[in-house]
Amino acid sequence: MSVTLSRRRFLANSAVMLGAGCFQPAWPKVAPSSLPIPALLDGVRGEPINLQIRDGEWSFKPGVKTPTLGFGQDYLGPTIRTRQSSELNLRYHNTLAEGVAVHGHGLHVPGDVDGGPQLEIAPEDRWEPALSIVQPAATCWYHSHTHGKTGHQVYHGLAGMIIIDDDISDSMDLPRQYGVDDLPVIIQDRTFDAQGRLVYSLNDAGEDGWLGETVVINGVMSPVARVPAGKVRLRLLNGANARFYFVGFADSRTFYKIAGDGGFLESPVPLTMMEVAPGERCEIIIDMADGNTAELLTLFEDDFDDDVAGIFRSLLDIFDRSAESVPQAALTLTVDETLPAQTAPLPERMITISRPRESEIVRTRNFMLTMEDDDGGQGKHGGHAIMDMAINGAVMDMNVINEQVKRGVWERWRIRSNQGAHPFHVHGCSFLIEQMEGTAAPPDQQGWKDMVVVDDDDWSEIVVRFDHPATRRFPYMYHCHILEHEDRGMMGQFTVG
Ligand code: C2O
Ligand code: CU
Ligand code: CU
Repeated sequence: MSVTLSRRRFLANSAVMLGAGCFQPAWPKVAPSSLPIPALLDGVRGEPINLQIRDGEWSFKPGVKTPTLGFGQDYLGPTIRTRQSSELNLRYHNTLAEGVAVHGHGLHVPGDVDGGPQLEIAPEDRWEPALSIVQPAATCWYHSHTHGKTGHQVYHGLAGMIIIDDDISDSMDLPRQYGVDDLPVIIQDRTFDAQGRLVYSLNDAGEDGWLGETVVINGVMSPVARVPAGKVRLRLLNGANARFYFVGFADSRTFYKIAGDGGFLESPVPLTMMEVAPGERCEIIIDMADGNTAELLTLFEDDFDDDVAGIFRSLLDIFDRSAESVPQAALTLTVDETLPAQTAPLPERMITISRPRESEIVRTRNFMLTMEDDDGGQGKHGGHAIMDMAINGAVMDMNVINEQVKRGVWERWRIRSNQGAHPFHVHGCSFLIEQMEGTAAPPDQQGWKDMVVVDDDDWSEIVVRFDHPATRRFPYMYHCHILEHEDRGMMGQFTVG
């Protein structure tokens, strides 16, 4: 990683500095909960999957309930399993009093079933998209994409995981027993008031977006999962509204990243620490054969001193474990010898990625993400430093098509910002990162992606091709995946034809 930490922050005088750290749990310690595993709904044979968008009540911490939203459950949604060359039939029924659009993030499907803001489901209405799954194995997700309300609705629970399998993923010696050695791990952060109710306000979000104070995994604080004494696959989804996490283990153990947003890497990449941006997915393998407990840490950027190049060293060097500052594990894995263990060595080679030749790249587009300072928070917005967020000078407008892209050809997209780091996302495709913040993509970012981190220092560059149509009526989106930036307009629409 070539990133300096200070660039992750926006302005030093950020209006609201939430998320001061993960060292103080919001409540006194109680017996840890076990990791909730969302129900697995198998849509492989085209069976319709019913997803009722509804109100709920959820305990992030035992004994304290707060109003939430979910898909057929109180908070979050079931995990949907599908497969390359199959049809996925989703049946959404919106029982809320407000409209909801639901997007399949990472899916290569046409614009009319992509679930962007143009496809808002009115209260009491239904939406039943039939999705032809053509893409290779990957961990994707579905979440609210409602115009101006995405941050609010995702924060309250409108998100779930999608697992796509294919023949390659079936043929490899990888853990794939859902809920046993193949675990969905949805990382989010939430802020609670004194009564334990969720706190969220788009207007009060600072430049960084809404940063929750407490990490929750699948909706629970610091849960424990019992896993076999073998290889364990964690499908990490950064489902936070705004936070970048540094992820590693308390014992600095090596883990292997096998897949990113759009599917497998060519080979497993050994890591001891990685940064996961909002919206990003990483599948990692850890080896539990030694029987030791593994503590997954999801550290906040502000836990590190700016001048400590600490993330490049082991965690144990950074934290004085004798002091009070030992970070609390976001998720603890403990071994249960009675569970069936997958102990085969990891495959050395997983897939082959073919990059386009330079002569195949027909066009270059530049995208500049901008945050304009207002008057410093005085007056104009009642004291809140609300900024205008735009891409190439345009604030998201549902009636404007910002780009028109030709189907089936390669393009190079160059993206940067005028301030701070942003996770840039593109609908309807997977792309390859050529350069990230001015330097070559690190090995673990060299697979198929739909998220790329951009900043104000230098260009990030991707090569991308769109194989499905998106019309003026149902265009695709590109946007910053800090949901408060998206909701304030850091998003654009494009057609593919
Ligand atoms: Cu995950 Cu357009 O979003
Ligand atoms: Cu998306
Ligand atoms: Cu942003």
